Amino acid sequence: MSVLTIQGLRVAVGDREVVRGLDLTMQSGEVHVIMGPNGSGKSTLAHALAGHPGYRITGGTAEIDGVSLLDLSPTDRVRRGLFLALQQPIEVPGVRLADVLRAAGVDPEGLEGRIRVEAERVGLRPDLLSRFMNVDLSGGERKRAEVVQFALLRPAFALFDEVDSGLDVDALGAVARRLAASSQEWGCGVLVITHFSRLLHDLMPTKIHVVRAGQVVTTGGPELAAVLEREGYEPFGAPSSDA
Ligand SMILES: Nc1ncnc2c1ncn2[C@@H]1O[C@H](COP(=O)(O)OP(=O)(O)O)[C@@H](O)[C@H]1O
Ligand SMILES: [Mg+2]
Repeated sequence: MSVLTIQGLRVAVGDREVVRGLDLTMQSGEVHVIMGPNGSGKSTLAHALAGHPGYRITGGTAEIDGVSLLDLSPTDRVRRGLFLALQQPIEVPGVRLADVLRAAGVDPEGLEGRIRVEAERVGLRPDLLSRFMNVDLSGGERKRAEVVQFALLRPAFALFDEVDSGLDVDALGAVARRLAASSQEWGCGVLVITHFSRLLHDLMPTKIHVVRAGQVVTTGGPELAAVLEREGYEPFGAPSSDA
């Protein structure tokens, strides 16, 4: 059992603080969803957790089982069990998925077969995964390729930014079900950033967090989704600005 703890996290982009005291705690085996208006700092949170240069931590902590992630290199964060799928997966010419998985220590025994099984679970043509990573793949194919990578890496915690972008409804359902299953299969803690409340039906999240202006302003159960669907983000209020 592991726990991901984010407390009072503050992140600046350039000279502007975009994440402004964000708190979030997630245990192994839980599925959490982050929803919030455009520009509220959701992707900034993902980039900061990934250790992306250009996102400056100006306060707070992010830890897995009490070990700070913020002092670690991006590679060491992955070694600590954190997987981050960014909004726009990039092309990596010269590198294939199987190479990445083997380099990360995934058991090479029967790997091609396991890649094929996972590709089929998210409706992706397996031959697309023997190409160089993401090269000449559509946005939706890249998203699904990333889910295959996730499923074989079996991280302790995974964060998916805008998982809905580029996916049609059928692909989205398959991806959401795959993510939800991971919480059962190896106790993954899954954090999904999405605008698409229809996804919640397949994801069956433990908790929904509403983010506004760089803070979690409300946390609730799946019942929050209906309120968001009906009334948007307005009822949840913005935190008082200290900018
Ligand atoms: N690399 C960047 N350079 C400049 N501004 C950025 C950068 N990344 C994010 N921002 C700004 O930070 C704010 C939050 O962006 P973002 O975290 O992408 O929001 P969200 O993902 O919630 O839509 C926005 O105003 C955005 O313009
Ligand atoms: Mg975003």
